[in-house]
Amino acid sequence: MIKKVKTEQLRPGVFIHDFGKKWLDHPFITNSKMLATQWHIERIREYNIKEIYIDTNRGLDVLSAPIPLNEWSEAFENKKARDKLLLKRKEWVPFETEVAQALEIRDKAQNYIRQLIDDIKMGRDFDPDVAAEIVDEMIDSLTRNGDALLSLISIQNKDEYTFNHSINVAIITAAFCRYLEMNAEDIKTFALGALFHDLGKIKIPIEVITKPDDFTQEDMKLMQRHPELGLEILAAQPNTDQRILDVIYEHHERMDGSGYPRGLNEDQISFGGRLVSITDVYDALTSDRPYHDGDPPKNVLSYMFKVSSSAFDAILVQQFIQSIGIYPVGSLVRLQSGFLAIVVKTAKEELTKPVVLLVYDTNRDRKISPRRLDLAAPGGTLHQISGPESAVKWGIDIVHYMKGTPEPAENSNKNENK
Ligand SMILES: [Fe+2]
Repeated sequence: MIKKVKTEQLRPGVFIHDFGKKWLDHPFITNSKMLATQWHIERIREYNIKEIYIDTNRGLDVLSAPIPLNEWSEAFENKKARDKLLLKRKEWVPFETEVAQALEIRDKAQNYIRQLIDDIKMGRDFDPDVAAEIVDEMIDSLTRNGDALLSLISIQNKDEYTFNHSINVAIITAAFCRYLEMNAEDIKTFALGALFHDLGKIKIPIEVITKPDDFTQEDMKLMQRHPELGLEILAAQPNTDQRILDVIYEHHERMDGSGYPRGLNEDQISFGGRLVSITDVYDALTSDRPYHDGDPPKNVLSYMFKVSSSAFDAILVQQFIQSIGIYPVGSLVRLQSGFLAIVVKTAKEELTKPVVLLVYDTNRDRKISPRRLDLAAPGGTLHQISGPESAVKWGIDIVHYMKGTPEPAENSNKNENK
């Protein structure tokens, strides 16, 4: 039977009879298609198609409700399960719409962290409930669109590293926990731990934190106290979840016992400690800092994979690579065709073939009107990625493109640093 359904009802196994759109306005070559995986469904959502015709004789029917009733009744008995189902039911929002919201959440988080640092330095009480609200907003944003908030990680401001690092690690941790299909309460707890993970650094002199040269042994000793100092700050707050304290105290512990402050080995490190040790190192190595330019995510992930058996939880690292993609959303890449492109959607099944926005033609040395391209689509070999590129070097304002307000195409690029 042919019937019209909402795209949010689609599930793998449904056969598309007709997209109800012109060929160019949907992501596939043919107008009828078996939806084999969730990846196909995500691609349809990317094109902002609201309704679609399906053939129930050639594939599965859609579910009458996204969540079966028996799961709901079970959920009412169980708060964690209910939270998990609520997360699944949030409406999906297009990337360009969610980016504006994501920028606001990020601003709010930056203001909070600035205030928090002041309060702690001055010995004033601070309000951890505001942090919980911000983390809730981050999780809501990631649920509406898994890429928008995460894409802002790639936008660097080396002078604001200290503020941005804790916010980035909270966002990356929340996104990773969602990928691991945790319930809302667990995601929130670990993301809060991540937001507070380096709080103890506030108690260390700024000259040591921002030192350009190698640390002396004394500096190192002082720096290595930050997990303990952070623990003291948060443990003084009433009702702080033990898992948040574990993240703060254990995010520099390593699986082979080489970490600090206690040199714990793998059996002794909590799940939160293992989790945030990965997201912390990933952000630290990919970010531009005052005296150090960040490395491309692909290289950082490759390094983390190499050391994963000794330093990190190897299974978690593998999951992390799958979740973040080797060319993350918001990063700039060079294509074999000579175009520069911004990654706008990672492909979980083919990490080297994301959806990108072509923005610059290096053959003609000019910006171009942006054009969306799915590198996983057939016939796209010319446009395969040859490597990461620096947006700063090419004078490309990624935020403008992400918000759907691209810079106008120019006849030539005036940036001379490339
Ligand atoms: Fe740290």
